[in-house]
Amino acid sequence: MCGIVGFTGTKPVKDFLLEGLHNLEYRGYDSAGIALLLDDNSLFIKKRSGAVDVLEDALHETDMPAQTGIGHTRWATHGAPSEINAHPHFNADKSLALVHNGIIENSYVLRESLEAEGYHFVSETDTEVIVHLLDKVYKEREDGDLLQALIDVSKVLEGSYAIVLLSSEHPGELFAVRNGSPLVLAKHDDGAYIASDVIALVSRVKHVITMDNNEFAHLKKDGSVHVYNDKKEELEHIIQELDVNHIPLDNGEYPDFMLKEMNEQPDVIERLGQDRFDAGSIRLDGLNLSDEEIKNTDKIFIVACGTSYHASLLAKNYIENLAGIPVEVAVASEFANQHVLVTDHTLCIIVTQSGETADTLAAARKIKDLGARVFAITNVLGSTAARESDGVIYTKAGPEVSVAATKTFVAQIVAVFFLALFFAEKNGRLSSEEVLSHLKDIQDLSVKLGEVLSKQEDYEKGSRFFAQAHSALFIGRSLNYPIASEGALKLKEISYLHAEAYPAGEIKHGPFALLEPGFPVVVVIPHDDTRAKTLSNIKEIRARGAVVLAVATQGDAEVEENADFVFWVPSVPPLLTPLISVIPLQILARKVALDRGQNVDRPRNLAKSVTVE
Ligand code: AGP
Repeated sequence: MCGIVGFTGTKPVKDFLLEGLHNLEYRGYDSAGIALLLDDNSLFIKKRSGAVDVLEDALHETDMPAQTGIGHTRWATHGAPSEINAHPHFNADKSLALVHNGIIENSYVLRESLEAEGYHFVSETDTEVIVHLLDKVYKEREDGDLLQALIDVSKVLEGSYAIVLLSSEHPGELFAVRNGSPLVLAKHDDGAYIASDVIALVSRVKHVITMDNNEFAHLKKDGSVHVYNDKKEELEHIIQELDVNHIPLDNGEYPDFMLKEMNEQPDVIERLGQDRFDAGSIRLDGLNLSDEEIKNTDKIFIVACGTSYHASLLAKNYIENLAGIPVEVAVASEFANQHVLVTDHTLCIIVTQSGETADTLAAARKIKDLGARVFAITNVLGSTAARESDGVIYTKAGPEVSVAATKTFVAQIVAVFFLALFFAEKNGRLSSEEVLSHLKDIQDLSVKLGEVLSKQEDYEKGSRFFAQAHSALFIGRSLNYPIASEGALKLKEISYLHAEAYPAGEIKHGPFALLEPGFPVVVVIPHDDTRAKTLSNIKEIRARGAVVLAVATQGDAEVEENADFVFWVPSVPPLLTPLISVIPLQILARKVALDRGQNVDRPRNLAKSVTVE
């Protein structure tokens, strides 16, 4: 989490820093700050609690010709979201200022020893430890080699971090280190750029360099960028072209990014279906697995967090059902402490929209160390997940800005469905004709998603009822239990309404006690072979006076008779019901959140990519 941006060059830097921070706000938005190098080589630092707009207002009157500076938008880890804890942090004589993304795990010990040496801390952050440690190491060296001081300090720091450093003694230069948290660099005629994410640079440059872990960068105002290893040997790097067309910087005609991204779902489905359909059979080029390796696969582990975990639960169902390979799914943060048994024929798949989720990356590294091959399903080209994996399937949903995942979830479901078809064809469980027929079903889905999205006004009454509630239960069976879980997650994360998901058949084993007149229950009930049992559950719930909102297949008169509210979806093949059932739940969550006066794109305490464990 946290967004970092920096520039040194021959143009004023302030506006670029603010623009970059606005674009990075999805990474954290509890406070923001910038540090600029002034003409007299002193550092100007301004920080504010709250969004980047608040910082921008504070800088409004300030005419700053400075051409070197760094900026930061924060997601609090150590210390409350406040002005004092906001970045940049600086040393006592304000000759050094730095911004940091990540966590310094040994900050407590380092802080104690620095305090014992007389260093005075003003914030509660782990970041302040870095700047005081740098002050100490740099001053002890006496040779003015700040890059070497940064290398020395990084050897003492434990945890994951990306740091960008500005010094009044090195005008026109920036220094950086990447260790676990992403950083990209760019050379340009105007100067040299750095950011935690390309989205901050896209309006300025056309090419970027992605730093690897344990690499150090030195940026100069002539636009040059040098990357070193920890022995201070200069490294060559591939310069990648930026795909500017796919990076949205505003929500256009839509009131929020969430609605924009939800409405892009039919196109996402169509594009993904077309890609594979045109190919005449299922093709997953990025997977890098031989037919022999697929046939010999004895087990697949899938690890992920949040919404990506829900897509992984569907992956288990699809792969076991269609390809006959056993699959174990784990929440990535739990996987760290799980006893994992792998053989030479075990595969691991990580599912991560951002490709930067720290828990998921840690799980992938753990299973890789045990000898399994790791494949990533991710939406972000060149992300850490993509770079560290043996193969990648890109979900191609286009950048997602809203913190609540919508179109990328749908794209993940399609990706794992393709993966299951691919394995099934290779294993001889499905013929090419059968695979093509499934691909055709995916293509047909696009129009049906569009139909649901075009009827959002039908949701007003049901959504208003939920907006008044204190808590809600979501239930579904089989393929639609992960969808109930996704619906509950979506509702909690953007409306702050407590919601819990249960397999429909399990609620009589405890959650039934919650039911009382007026208690809201969302029931996902497609017209498939789970319907009869779920309908009985609806009747049992209604018998206790609870209120049922059903997500049901168009024309299901019995559900209509038994539910208080119905969100209709068109009929689709049974395996694809998750792709259509999730849409009403996204609409419900957004409407409830808006009714409750929340910002749907930036829910409190959350960030789009969670880069700390
Ligand atoms: C989804 O709406 C959430 N914002 C969150 O649960 C997210 O899915 C989770 O943090 C995993 O992110 P990733 O897919 O980028 O790894």
